[in-house]
Amino acid sequence: MCGIVCYCGNRKAVPVLMEGLRRLEYRGYDSAGFAVIDNTQGLVVEKKKGKVNALEQSSINKHYDASMGIAHTRWSTHGEPTTINAHPHKDCTGKICVIHNGIIENYSILKEELVKAGHHFISDTDTEVIAHLIEQYYKDDLELAVLMAVERLNGTFGLAVMHEDVKDSLIIVRRGSPVILGVGDGEMFAASDTNALSNYTNRMIYLQDDDIAIVKKDSYLIKNLRSEIQEREIHELNEIEADVDKAGFEHFMLKEIFEQPESIKNAFRGRLIQSEGVSKLGGLEPVMERLKKIRKIILISCGTSYYAGLFGRYIFEHLTDINIDVELASEFRYRKLKIDEDTAVLAISQSGETADTLAALKEAKRKGALILGIVNVVGSTIARITDAGVYNFAGPEIGVASTKIYTSQLVILTLIGVLIGRYQGLSYIEGASLVAALKKVPKQVEEILKTAPLIEKIAKKYSKFNDFLYIGRLYNYPTALEAALKLKEISYIHAEGYAAGEMKHGPISLIDKDFPTIAIAPDDLVLEKMLSNMQEIKARGGMILSVTNESAKDVIDMSDDNFIVPKTIDILQPILNIIPLQLFAYYVAKERGCDIDKPRNLAKSVTVE
Ligand code: G6P
Repeated sequence: MCGIVCYCGNRKAVPVLMEGLRRLEYRGYDSAGFAVIDNTQGLVVEKKKGKVNALEQSSINKHYDASMGIAHTRWSTHGEPTTINAHPHKDCTGKICVIHNGIIENYSILKEELVKAGHHFISDTDTEVIAHLIEQYYKDDLELAVLMAVERLNGTFGLAVMHEDVKDSLIIVRRGSPVILGVGDGEMFAASDTNALSNYTNRMIYLQDDDIAIVKKDSYLIKNLRSEIQEREIHELNEIEADVDKAGFEHFMLKEIFEQPESIKNAFRGRLIQSEGVSKLGGLEPVMERLKKIRKIILISCGTSYYAGLFGRYIFEHLTDINIDVELASEFRYRKLKIDEDTAVLAISQSGETADTLAALKEAKRKGALILGIVNVVGSTIARITDAGVYNFAGPEIGVASTKIYTSQLVILTLIGVLIGRYQGLSYIEGASLVAALKKVPKQVEEILKTAPLIEKIAKKYSKFNDFLYIGRLYNYPTALEAALKLKEISYIHAEGYAAGEMKHGPISLIDKDFPTIAIAPDDLVLEKMLSNMQEIKARGGMILSVTNESAKDVIDMSDDNFIVPKTIDILQPILNIIPLQLFAYYVAKERGCDIDKPRNLAKSVTVE
């Protein structure tokens, strides 16, 4: 999704902006651009369809003498991904320029009005409207003009505005789309996420909705829409939160897969009390009394986080007596659901910024539910608007295809399940054995990661196929969905995840020798049922690649290939089973020459609905 980076200080602005853009590349984008105020040429804009490298190449020899600028990576919503539609956008005078994340919902009405007033548009974007609107209101006070323009905008936005005649300050606005200020020593930054700034400063200010920041190189002022000054805390990020290196791995995705022993440990570190068979979650303590009385939990999320939510249903059902619903955030917000103060709505989100999840949470809050979050990005919007929550503490996830956050989410859902369950029917013995099993998981993940060369070999063999069916039952039904999503996201191969029992109600008609099945068939209480489904596939000439345990001899014998994973208790087995399938997707995509960390059309953080 679109990214913003801004700089104001004593350094040369262009290299700082380019570095920031590169650090935002992981979000997914299709064009990039920047604007700086050059000491001799005034306001200059450079933009380019395609990658940040292309933008850098086209501007590298121009040596702009500028120490203030704004830059952007665009993920198209209005208008094609072309150089003209790339940001920044200028007004008619060519003196005002704007970059924007989000969507302006009333842009066509505004555009019509502005065209009638004589403004000339050159792009198809909603963003250009903002530049002309500011021009319309500008006399000699940029802040006031931005304020007046913002009053007219409906939708979500993170904005940065610069004017050629205002050589010492930038205006930044936030409504809905995240913008962060970075506080340096005699220099200031702004960006859509902290990754863009983490090699310049670890001191960040999270702007809130309807904040307008006036940023100069050695000062900043934050106001609300009534021009009242707002105090905002400076957060110091720690090293884990700021680290975005590939650490010698070929891709971020691979690095993040290999980080899982650590990220899983970080998810439960200091949160397990073995002697009481329970978990301890400081983030939920303020609402614990209310949580104990909750009768229904609705899990809401999108993408991979939604599949974590589906796992959450099984784990909560198993460990607690509470009614559980799982909803896609994009559907939840438009449905007529019974929500009251006995309901908790738990959002699961890596970024903490996903627009649909955010909107769904706001809806739940309006209806009086207790709103909770499982979020990775510290200080993100969801983390801030929820009544309470639990952080993943997994460090930044850069690969667009989520891996380490998924397993971390499964662990945290388990911790919440145990915590609530122990106030209900869950016995000490059950709680304690679960805690003990969870502690062993990081070592077991390490064992699986050691088999990566074998997984790569098998992935090469399967990389020639263009269709895959993934099947699983019970706790591993979400594993099948998530594993299929991994493959399609990064290798563009058609892959369907199915509950194994549903196979004979449709997908089995697709099976032939060119349509392999990935069966997630651990040695658990539904093993016999899985074996019957696998029999049905074999009978139709389909190949089978299984994820299973050493003890499941029948599965191993029936399959063409196997990924053998260590055995844990049934409800935790999905945390292990997904690991070889993440690696499988990775190696298939690599074999097919795909852009693994930045798959086409996808964005890491989806901040539009
Ligand atoms: C995008 C990402 C997915 C992610 C989903 C939800 O689609 O590409 O990897 O699962 O958004 O994101 P969230 O940050 O809310 O977990």
